[in-house]
Amino acid sequence: MQNEELKRREQLAFQAGGEDRIQKQHQGGKLTARERIDLLLDSGSFVEMDKFVTHRCTDFGMESHKFLGDGVVTGYGTVNGRKVCVFSQDFTVFGGSLSGAHASKICKIMDLALKTGVPVIGMNDSGGARIQEGVESLGGYAEIFWRNVQASGVIPQISLVMGPCAGGAVYSPAITDFIAMVQDTSYMFVTGPDVIKTVTHEEVSKEDLGGADTHAEKSGVCQLVYPDERALFEGTRRLMDFLPLNNLDTAPKKNCTDSRDRLNAKIHEILPDVPSKPYDIRHIIEEVVDDADFLEIHKAYAANIVVGFARMGGQTVGIVGNQPAHLAGCLDIAASTKGARFVRYCDAFNIPIITFVDVPGFLPGTSQEYGGIIKHGAKLLYAFAEATVPKLTLITRKAYGGAYDVMASKHIRADVNLAYPNAEIAVMGPDGAINILYRKEISDAEKAGHLDQTRAKLVAEYKEKFANPYKAAELGYIDEVIEPEFTRTRLIQALDLLEGKRERGPSRKHGNIPL
Ligand code: HXC
Repeated sequence: MQNEELKRREQLAFQAGGEDRIQKQHQGGKLTARERIDLLLDSGSFVEMDKFVTHRCTDFGMESHKFLGDGVVTGYGTVNGRKVCVFSQDFTVFGGSLSGAHASKICKIMDLALKTGVPVIGMNDSGGARIQEGVESLGGYAEIFWRNVQASGVIPQISLVMGPCAGGAVYSPAITDFIAMVQDTSYMFVTGPDVIKTVTHEEVSKEDLGGADTHAEKSGVCQLVYPDERALFEGTRRLMDFLPLNNLDTAPKKNCTDSRDRLNAKIHEILPDVPSKPYDIRHIIEEVVDDADFLEIHKAYAANIVVGFARMGGQTVGIVGNQPAHLAGCLDIAASTKGARFVRYCDAFNIPIITFVDVPGFLPGTSQEYGGIIKHGAKLLYAFAEATVPKLTLITRKAYGGAYDVMASKHIRADVNLAYPNAEIAVMGPDGAINILYRKEISDAEKAGHLDQTRAKLVAEYKEKFANPYKAAELGYIDEVIEPEFTRTRLIQALDLLEGKRERGPSRKHGNIPL
């Protein structure tokens, strides 16, 4: 028989901010905090904590205005049978605003997650600092930020932004590993449209300023975008399946029905005959990985580099690939930071990295130089060099200049480096190179009226000598030149070998990655 007082309190907690506010939430295309948890977690797995916590504020008549749970539902459960801690802000209670008590609940579940090595998924839907509580609320945010930093690289942290997330409140999701947003109903900004209008006289809508598409395409703040909340939960469950529970765990191994030595003859059709012609690197990735299952992260941002998770022989791998279909696969500021962040994630969580290289170099231009391509490009170099997880590199076509070094070359300690026979590995492309090497011959040919023939001859000579993988293979920089059909087989063999890889950098407090 259920205790009456317990039953009464539980009913009160479940009422949240009341029927009217729940209806308003639904009318706005949003689910409630508990509905969200039900969709995210395995059915019946959720165990709630701190259901009866209330705020302690006595200003502004708040002592007579209390809701059990105080605007956030916290607890733990499972996603496809694997443990996870969650918090879900309840917009129907004080607009999901963060009081001291609300913050303490989030901190408690984060502490528990860190102690037990379990990921944290936070659902953000909040009007920000609880205005009535002032600095207590600000202190609560900072306590969360501090825990986000402590947990970084120890347990996966995922932020689902499902409503407003503004002001300093954005900095908790910003520190976490992945931010997912919902189109039309979620937004993030440090200062909102009204303040911007007053200070800079710019007029911008909430959606344009900090909506899901803005952060997915322009700012790069958000890595995953979904059309509605249900799609977001499905996507988050899929993402979780690729990840280990913590930095001492290995990612879950899935039973692999895709043949480990399946041949990839299709890659011959994907790679164009002409080296200057674009192709979509995702087609090669999908051809090679288990069951063509590739979860692309940060898809809409810096499309000239592709990153995401897949499996090889059932094992999770992180994929990084230059994308010749966009900006010819050049590395620029956005691509470098996108790639670096992903490589560091994989390294922190024991996920082997496979790098597909087809890069003509760094993007030239004053905007890149003034924007600091030197320090941003260095991030990608630093991240690859620092990573001690198994690193496999395959040059599918071009690997030129500094970008050759940066893209997980042998010199920065990739473990296995492969190249296709048509790979071009050199300091620069043939056209640029002959301009420098044969300046006089070219000038004479121009005067004599046979520039085109001369250039064609010099380019052909240069290509034969340098634009191939064999010089690098002779030096041992490339371990094996392989026919494309053996890509999957070779990569899986290398992953098998590297399963027991143990490597540690020198002892230090921490490195100083260029920021
Ligand atoms: C207390 C809040 C609140 C807040 C909303 N509410 N925000 N209560 N503190 N920060 C309450 C409202 O009073 C209302 O209560 C209910 O939540 C729903 O709010 P509405 O305004 O009716 O909802 P909506 O029209 O959807 O607008 C949502 C909103 C708006 C855009 C978020 O509420 C808003 O602008 N709120 C203030 C945002 C803000 O300035 N926050 C402080 C930012 S500074 P009732 O009882 O009527 O349901 C900050 C600093 C963090 O957060 C620093 C960290 C370092």
